[in-house]
Amino acid sequence: MGNRVPLIAGNWKMNKTVKESVELVSVLKQKLTDVKNREILVCPSYISLYAVKEALKNTNIKVGAQNMYFEKSGAFTGEISPLMLKDINCDYVIIGHSERRQYFGETDESVNKKMKVAFESGIIPIVCVGETLQQREKNETFLIIEKQIKIGVAGLSGEQMKKLVIAYEPVWAIGTGKTATPQQAEEIHAFIRKLYSELYGKDAAEDIRILYGGSVKPDNISEIMKQPNIDGGLIGGAALKADDFIKLVNY
Ligand code: PGA
Repeated sequence: MGNRVPLIAGNWKMNKTVKESVELVSVLKQKLTDVKNREILVCPSYISLYAVKEALKNTNIKVGAQNMYFEKSGAFTGEISPLMLKDINCDYVIIGHSERRQYFGETDESVNKKMKVAFESGIIPIVCVGETLQQREKNETFLIIEKQIKIGVAGLSGEQMKKLVIAYEPVWAIGTGKTATPQQAEEIHAFIRKLYSELYGKDAAEDIRILYGGSVKPDNISEIMKQPNIDGGLIGGAALKADDFIKLVNY
């Protein structure tokens, strides 16, 4: 068994102004100072990132972006580069979230480019994978996840293999209140770890963390976290309220 510290990550999506973001983390940092053996992460919108990072200086709460572009600079109006994220000491970046795939044309190929550039820039990527309801009903879940992993996380080297974070988020469970059962999630997590082992070897597969995401709430997180291949949560809705997020971290 690898040495996998559970990662509890809040994906705030397109919510909260700068002021609201700073207010939320001001509460979190007070209430979560004593948390041990757990990594805590918040992912605000781009516009709040810097203020949130400043507010969380010298705390145990890390900060991530929800996306980035795969070029480091240039004429790409409206995009944010990995160097900009690194400059404000962003620790993580979410890549290939299903909403980005669904609404903004993200593909496994762009996910792969972004993942590599994130690592090159010193930011740890959290690569999201997951099937839609239609794909699940057609029994394509394993096929889809395999393709997303094989293309999306191809070409990792050395330490990168161990540091990568994967988030399994069944699209039908995101924001719908329909959580995958812990067994359904575990089945896919075990599959991902096995596939990763084939790609990058047993040691790397034991070390990488695979998060579950999709309607994780304070009242279902402990059952989810009991599964042997689930190493944390990527949490949307419930991460927006201080009380809920505090409970989630202390599951
Ligand atoms: P949810 O979102 O917790 O609101 O379902 C999870 C996610 O999309 O990361």
